[in-house]
Amino acid sequence: MAPVMRDSVAPNHAEQGTAPLMEGICLCKRFGKVTALEGVDIVIRRGEVTGLVGDNGAGKSTLIKILTGVYRPDEGELRFEGQRVEFASPKDARRLGIETVYQDLALIENMSIARNFFLGAEPQRKVGILNLLDVRKMRLVTEEALKDIGIAVRSANDEVSVLSGGERQAIAIGRTMHFGGKLLILDEPTSALSVHETNKVLTYIDEVRKRGLAVIFITHNLYHVYPVADRIVVLEHGRKVGDFAKDEISVDELVQIVSYGAQRVARSARQQ
Ligand SMILES: Nc1ncnc2c1ncn2[C@@H]1O[C@H](COP(=O)(O)OP(=O)(O)OP(=O)(O)O)[C@@H](O)[C@H]1O
Ligand SMILES: [Mg+2]
Repeated sequence: MAPVMRDSVAPNHAEQGTAPLMEGICLCKRFGKVTALEGVDIVIRRGEVTGLVGDNGAGKSTLIKILTGVYRPDEGELRFEGQRVEFASPKDARRLGIETVYQDLALIENMSIARNFFLGAEPQRKVGILNLLDVRKMRLVTEEALKDIGIAVRSANDEVSVLSGGERQAIAIGRTMHFGGKLLILDEPTSALSVHETNKVLTYIDEVRKRGLAVIFITHNLYHVYPVADRIVVLEHGRKVGDFAKDEISVDELVQIVSYGAQRVARSARQQ
């Protein structure tokens, strides 16, 4: 089913550069008696990395699942490129160019890098009456696309099983860029990586931003997200308690807010 678009809003071209790519307005989600999200607003812009942080159970994954069509909000609405959208499934969100890369990536171990890169969109070539996979084209395009964002693989014909965690993230990120993604969502991409690998993934994220895509980066590690984020949104018990441009807040202040709670930090600041 195609995503339902409603209330078309004419874009203001003077603001195109800064117009939101996606907005969540007053989003609420309940699971039985648990309120996972309560009145959360979020604005996602092109060419910006939005860090989404908060303690366990804060509502980060629930928010992402609403933006990607896994859940429907109980209240509130979504807008994409100025139009109201309703997603019946993740397919609807993907059709608009919203891609999610999870920590435990859905890459297939014993298949080549190139096959994984093209998964579901394999080019074919005709040989007589047969349609064969165009393996050569897949290899060349994959190597070129990865090189383009600074990712070197020995050969795209190598199996994914030879890749490290960071390289796997890179393949998934490269795939999103190559197939015209507009919003890349990374859920804990660096949590299982070494320092060196983490730095590489952060470089790729920076490259994605430079290409003008919007990125949402979810993590528990504020020291990973802070260097690459343009904005940082803090969730706490399902509510948004902070939405900062990077230059409004230091990483130490952010750590305080996430560790001790926004209210306590504000109270102790008033008392000082
Ligand atoms: N499918 C579900 N059914 C019932 N409760 C849920 C469900 N998904 C999330 N919750 C609850 O909603 C709240 C928010 O959970 P969510 O997974 O969004 O948090 P999170 O910020 O992603 O946490 P973490 O950092 O641990 O991944 C939690 O109290 C969680 O137990
Ligand atoms: Mg989560």
